[in-house]
Amino acid sequence: GEKTYAFPAGFLWGGATAANQYEGGWLDGGKGASVPDHITGGTVSTPRRWTREIEEGTYYPSHEAVDFYHRYKEDIALMAEMGFNVFRLSINWGRIYPNGDDKTPNEEGLAFYHDVFKECRKYGIEPLVTLSHYETPWALTEKYNGWASREVIDHFVRYATTCFQEYKDEVKYWLTFNEINCAMMPFGTIMGLGMVPESDVMDFGASETHEQVQKRFQALHHQFVASAKAVQIGHAINPNFMIGCMIAGGLAYPYTCNPKDALAAQNKNNMSNYFCGDVQVRGVYPYFAKRFFKENDIHLDITTDDEIELLNGTVDFYSFSYYMSSTETVDEELKAAKGNVFAGVPNPYLETSEWGWQIDPEGLRWYLNDVYGRYEIPLMIVENGLGAVDVRGEDGKFHDVYRIDYLRKHIEQMGEAIEDGVDLLGYTMWGCVDLVSASTGEMKKRYGFIYVDKDNDGNGDLHREKKDSFDWYKKVIASNGKEL
Ligand code: BG6
Repeated sequence: GEKTYAFPAGFLWGGATAANQYEGGWLDGGKGASVPDHITGGTVSTPRRWTREIEEGTYYPSHEAVDFYHRYKEDIALMAEMGFNVFRLSINWGRIYPNGDDKTPNEEGLAFYHDVFKECRKYGIEPLVTLSHYETPWALTEKYNGWASREVIDHFVRYATTCFQEYKDEVKYWLTFNEINCAMMPFGTIMGLGMVPESDVMDFGASETHEQVQKRFQALHHQFVASAKAVQIGHAINPNFMIGCMIAGGLAYPYTCNPKDALAAQNKNNMSNYFCGDVQVRGVYPYFAKRFFKENDIHLDITTDDEIELLNGTVDFYSFSYYMSSTETVDEELKAAKGNVFAGVPNPYLETSEWGWQIDPEGLRWYLNDVYGRYEIPLMIVENGLGAVDVRGEDGKFHDVYRIDYLRKHIEQMGEAIEDGVDLLGYTMWGCVDLVSASTGEMKKRYGFIYVDKDNDGNGDLHREKKDSFDWYKKVIASNGKEL
């Protein structure tokens, strides 16, 4: 018969979301605007834009998103029906501190998340909370140029402290910054760092002045310090807290066995994954950072106090998102002919999603082993899934076999990695309820087990429907990963 996998007892199975893509209610209950509230819709071919003023007649997908703000009871009940024992969500910073630098928190915002966590607890669902998932308050962008300013560290620490104190008996698992390593790339400027970029278009391959690159790395350093301070405060408030980092898990293969390609891939993996992971897990910048900073003429303001904070504020576990792998080559002609900023030259052994992401389940096993070997602390996969166009079948239902197939293959590789000896705590599939895409702002790029009636232009009555993957995942959870 087919191979079955033994997942550990108590393995966390669930789904993941982010406030800015899910909640809506962008000005409800005293909330202030967050960065994504100033980012327009887009498509795979028309990039999103950020606007300083909210333009009339322009569509901003986060404003309503899919209205979790008013529908959380219904959604959490559906998650419970699937058997979730974990639900990843983010707290929208602007709901708690509308301007980011307010002296006191917004009580209505605090109450909202109490209600959400209470609803989770009712079903035995463990909330896994991201403190910052691209949700820097817009006022901090205006006033401080976001994370470029050292002052923002204190504002974040105040926000994190408020959340830890407020929810210390309701939440055990926390993540500080979502995909902190996105700040390594130009497109992370506005979303991840709340910093004004050089272009108003969210261009994934944008070029930047040296000054901007320098600022971006300084801003990232501020986030590292803020995260490390939050970890220490969290542990002081509740020693049982498990606080993790969150890295966008990219995996680059050498396109050929040319040693130059192998070195290029190694460099890519170092810079995209280990750079941030090392700072947050080991408490120091990696050995290769020095040369990178020197060659790029980047000079950071890192104080002795900062260094102490980083060392004392290392995380309890390493979490990451994993969607695809990419390739690296030094062959300029090949790159020019076929290259794509995101994934390099297409890997001929892999299939590609409609959004150009290369599907690579075995890469997940590789990544799990690689990262576990480097850090030897517990791991959690907090995002994984397939963005696809869902079309109703003739019977009016959504038969998303392609999604089931993608997830099954990735879960099998998790099983293999666990057999390899990797300490994996859990798995939260991305976008368990259809929500707004971060890169393109679309609804059309759907990930969910649960369909939401809404299109790219905002039409639809937002009602929820189960897709076939809903029942499939329910079975996976009930059998603790045995029935795939
Ligand atoms: C990660 C983000 O980059 O990938 C999520 O943490 C995002 O916010 C997810 O939604 C999937 O990307 P996209 O662009 O398909 O929404």
